[in-house]
Amino acid sequence: MKCKICKQPATIYLKYCGLRLCDEHFIQFLERKVQRTIKKYKMIDPEGERILVPLSGGKDSQSLMYILKTILPEEVQVIGFHINLGIPNSSEKSLRFINKLQDILGFELQVLDLKKEHGFSIQDLYEHRISRRPICAICGTIKRYVFNQEAKKRGFTKIATGHLLDDEVTVLMSNLIENNMDQLVRGGPMLPAREPNIIARIKPLYEVSELETRKYAEVRSIPYLTESCPYDVKASTKRLKKVMKHLEEIRPNSNLSLIRAYISSYKPAFRDHFTPSMGSINECACGAPTSGETCNFCWIKTKILQEMGQVE
Ligand code: FES
Ligand code: ZN
Ligand code: ZN
Repeated sequence: MKCKICKQPATIYLKYCGLRLCDEHFIQFLERKVQRTIKKYKMIDPEGERILVPLSGGKDSQSLMYILKTILPEEVQVIGFHINLGIPNSSEKSLRFINKLQDILGFELQVLDLKKEHGFSIQDLYEHRISRRPICAICGTIKRYVFNQEAKKRGFTKIATGHLLDDEVTVLMSNLIENNMDQLVRGGPMLPAREPNIIARIKPLYEVSELETRKYAEVRSIPYLTESCPYDVKASTKRLKKVMKHLEEIRPNSNLSLIRAYISSYKPAFRDHFTPSMGSINECACGAPTSGETCNFCWIKTKILQEMGQVE
């Protein structure tokens, strides 16, 4: 098995495009691919932006940071942002891996301690069970809220997340199965800013698979935390992800093909025939948009602080 470019021994075979590559040419291939994705979807203005990269210490966000620091021009500021969620054992390890990456790349890192800033941690939510939603789903709401609010407060123009092809195709399939038109009309690699309070979100690894990210992290010697969240038990999503992986194995390129078809054909067609249920958009006391009176985050915060006996 030889590298298609230099004829040296290949170290990876990318079935979906029929390429065999050595380490060096794989790196080149992947970084160019991300560069093309950024350009294709006009994710970043090369003349200058201030991008917040949420870091968890895991493979995807660490690799995203590495790639962005490597391929983007100096005019684009790429700054890491980490939330200390207060999960015993796990949170300290996360920060340790982020600091290791920082030693290699030398980026600016901003850290927010959830407990110090808002009075509760994810561990508090786990212990008090304020709702039936899985803890990781509540955590997701909290993280999205905090990243957005902090990005706004700290003058960032975009938030870049490490969502991979495997995540995106799984979400797409799940939305199709559940006929979740609201999400199908809104999804994609770039979620635009909504004035005045929502910062644009971009997914530069939208077309990069799990296999490619793993290989990239290995070849670039990127330090990352291998354990996943200790509360992560969302079995149905994991099962669907496996199904999409299997589909890719028996029919290479189907995952990429599906999300590309979604962007170029399904999404515009859905948009023409479906008006998302916007309802009335109000402003929560914290400034975040909400369909009710209080945003989800403030509801969670009030509820948990009450449970902990910290407010009436
Ligand atoms: Fe945060 Fe699971 S609790 S991802
Ligand atoms: Zn080569
Ligand atoms: Zn609020």
